[in-house]
Amino acid sequence: MDKLLIEGGARLAGEIDASGAKNAALPILCATLLSADAVTLHNLPQLQDVRTTQRLLRELGAEVQAEDPTAVTVQARDLVTHTAPYELVKTMRASILVLGPLLARLGEARVSLPGGCAIGARPVDIHLEGLRAMGADIRVEGGFIHARASKLQGTRFVMDTVTVTGTENLMMAATLAEGTTLLENAACEPEIGDLATCLNAMGARISGAGTSTIRIEGVERLHGAEHRILPDRIEIGTFLVAAAMTRGSVTVRQTGSGLLDAVLRKLQQAGARIHCEADSIQLDMAGRRPVSVDVHTAPFPGFPTDMQAQFMALDCIADGVATISENVFENRFMHALELQRLGADIRIEGHMAVVRGREQLEGAPVMATDLRASAGLVLAGLVADRQTLVDRIYHLDRGYERLEEKFRALGAYVQRVTHIPQEAA
Ligand code: UD1
Repeated sequence: MDKLLIEGGARLAGEIDASGAKNAALPILCATLLSADAVTLHNLPQLQDVRTTQRLLRELGAEVQAEDPTAVTVQARDLVTHTAPYELVKTMRASILVLGPLLARLGEARVSLPGGCAIGARPVDIHLEGLRAMGADIRVEGGFIHARASKLQGTRFVMDTVTVTGTENLMMAATLAEGTTLLENAACEPEIGDLATCLNAMGARISGAGTSTIRIEGVERLHGAEHRILPDRIEIGTFLVAAAMTRGSVTVRQTGSGLLDAVLRKLQQAGARIHCEADSIQLDMAGRRPVSVDVHTAPFPGFPTDMQAQFMALDCIADGVATISENVFENRFMHALELQRLGADIRIEGHMAVVRGREQLEGAPVMATDLRASAGLVLAGLVADRQTLVDRIYHLDRGYERLEEKFRALGAYVQRVTHIPQEAA
């Protein structure tokens, strides 16, 4: 199994390009099921989760053709089954995103329950309630969600909790419903706006995506379209935090704008000089040690839970004491135990962590527990003394494109290894 070997100490400097957003690519790939015509997507990130979603689309009968490494055309003309099998769904929770499109297009969908995952229970009750409100008959049997509706009906649905994939599933289903659907207390993440842009290009009639009330007027059918996936704000944020931690100066290109204001504000509080252009973000620490920053995760436009582990890593070596509160997921501090193995001073109390910054962390072997937790460990490794070996990096490969290559382009020593050098084992 691959591991990442990191030699700490390099001050990051240089320029890299952001990739397309994983969390936009996955729902948009699933949205192609809504039309019999060809949909071409550009700026797709090359990630394990994207490959898994393409496999799922093929299983369902769609033709998926790679135009080049970052572009694919999907044509779901003749779907052969309405069942998303457990073997695929269990490896990626986002597979639940085929539920709304399959039901709307075929009138029936069987999707394996995604189950729990390392960062919390993550139920899908709101997805199901919303589809029921649109007239679907839904049963959960034998580990599968079985949904049926000859024709979904537009409705007004107030979501109990702000859920990103829940909003996306219901928005997709509503595009082909009869009448108008109003989704209230909807998630406002930029990836939802990107999905709506793609759906509208396919002929859907969606307004308000990116606000907490989304209005979808159902149409008879959707047609083919071409769409470019928006940049990955979590990847961009991760590289900017790495630059801040190593006291470096880094420019990320192809960033879009307005995607990560809450994160940039925190980096400024940590002492970074930030310069934004229309399509790039430059961060410069001018050699200074970052100052501790408190973090309070919340749905967009609040501070993203997907950046919490990276800021915990920053606070581990910052000047001062910081409080981190995780308010989106109930069990998302597993990286704290691994950071402690590197010498970090972290105290956990329920959904709060108190992090006392240290001058220096010590390299050690550590274990990744989930996607963003692993990013936090890599960042800590970049500033730790000697070598850090991060195990179970298949988590990283689910969400970061060519991570070690991009870090190396900025001057870091990060190697993917299968045989471990003796001193780091
Ligand atoms: C998405 C993102 C993930 C990010 C998360 C929060 C994708 C593919 N993944 O995950 O990277 O960390 O948003 O920004 O876009 N909940 C319920 N019932 C439901 C659905 C959710 O109680 O039916 C709860 C969850 O347990 C969690 C909270 O709502 O506590 C938010 O989860 P949600 O926004 O649904 O996360 P995902 O969409 O799975």
